[in-house]
Amino acid sequence: MQMSYAIRCAFYQLLLAALMLVAMLQLLYLVYRGLLKTTMDPNDVILATHASVDNLLHLSGLLERWEGPLSVSVFAATKEEAQLATVLTYALSSHCPDMRARVAMHLVCPSRYEAAVPDPREPGEFALLRSCQEVFDKLARVAQPGINYALGTNVSYPNNLLRNLAREGANYALVIDVDMVPSEGLWRGLREMLDQSKQWAGTALVVPAFEIRRARRMPTNKNELLQLYQVGEVRPFYYGLCTPCQAPTNYSRWVNLPEETLLRPAYVVPWQDPWEPFYVAGGKVPTFDERFRQYGFNRISQACELHVAGFDFEVLNEGFLVHKGFKEALKFHPQKEAENQHNKILYRQFKQELKAKYPDSPRHC
Ligand SMILES: *[C@@H]1O[C@H](CO)[C@@H](O)[C@H](O)[C@H]1NC(C)=O
Ligand SMILES: *[C@@H]1O[C@H](CO)[C@@H](O)[C@H](O)[C@H]1NC(C)=O
Repeated sequence: MQMSYAIRCAFYQLLLAALMLVAMLQLLYLVYRGLLKTTMDPNDVILATHASVDNLLHLSGLLERWEGPLSVSVFAATKEEAQLATVLTYALSSHCPDMRARVAMHLVCPSRYEAAVPDPREPGEFALLRSCQEVFDKLARVAQPGINYALGTNVSYPNNLLRNLAREGANYALVIDVDMVPSEGLWRGLREMLDQSKQWAGTALVVPAFEIRRARRMPTNKNELLQLYQVGEVRPFYYGLCTPCQAPTNYSRWVNLPEETLLRPAYVVPWQDPWEPFYVAGGKVPTFDERFRQYGFNRISQACELHVAGFDFEVLNEGFLVHKGFKEALKFHPQKEAENQHNKILYRQFKQELKAKYPDSPRHC
């Protein structure tokens, strides 16, 4: 069965509309907003994430676990990847009803490559695919998962630009990396909590983050997570590479909380350098500083600004995130240390700049 001509044309029109909406032309990157659009309730909590084309296959797992709206910024480092990203978006929207209903997709590419608009008469091999599963299977065959830093090209992976784009327009958002999976029911729990009370503006609701050795069986609830935690199959996120980056979450306290059914903030924790929590927040959430690209300090700097801007951090009792795989030094690209060093200097400058940006804040970092 071929994709129907009507669907193709509708998609093509959507794409052209999106291309005309190119609202932000930066020096280095072209941004195509709303390659795939969805209507979102402004009171909803969105899951915002970013990925290179190679890592888009993680989307199927996210769609299963997160029952609410998702917003994904895709980075295409080369002209071929931009072409692949647009054809893929087209195939996903044609075959995956869940994608059409709940996912917004945006595309970013280096400004020297224009996103290649697929010719509706030439959708290539993707035209032969018949189901959502087949699209993801195909994606798994063409992708090289794990590579998120545009290796082999001169282009920096603009993670903070992608994060800002994905959370744009949302009131409450949980910004995560695409290779993480939220606990089951997290979206519903958050919705209930936020619908009941509006008092959470100004609070960052921290979702504790873990990493799992093998990603074959991702824990669904806290009980399952704790069983794996006790045998060392699950540990705090970044435990091996940067323990202080997550330690302020206070894992021992979280692990020992009494079991509860309702999601709620369980305890307040003070901000500490170099914490980089994952959280849900609404209100005037500072954007991610887009000068941070590639590896290092891109989320640390934003957490620091949240603190200076007056946000408090409260850790949720039941929800969590699990990263697929242990982060280990050997798995990283060779330029990681140089990037980290560069961003460390930028972070020092960033902290100075915050003093001028928030002259009345008694807080600093
Ligand atoms: C990297 O940039 C240089 C020019 O700055 C260019 O000649 C070269 O082809 C680029 N390499 C890749 C892989 O894009
Ligand atoms: C974690 O919480 C416990 C209370 O449950 C407290 O005694 C401990 O000092 C905290 N640890 C850190 C690192 O904040």
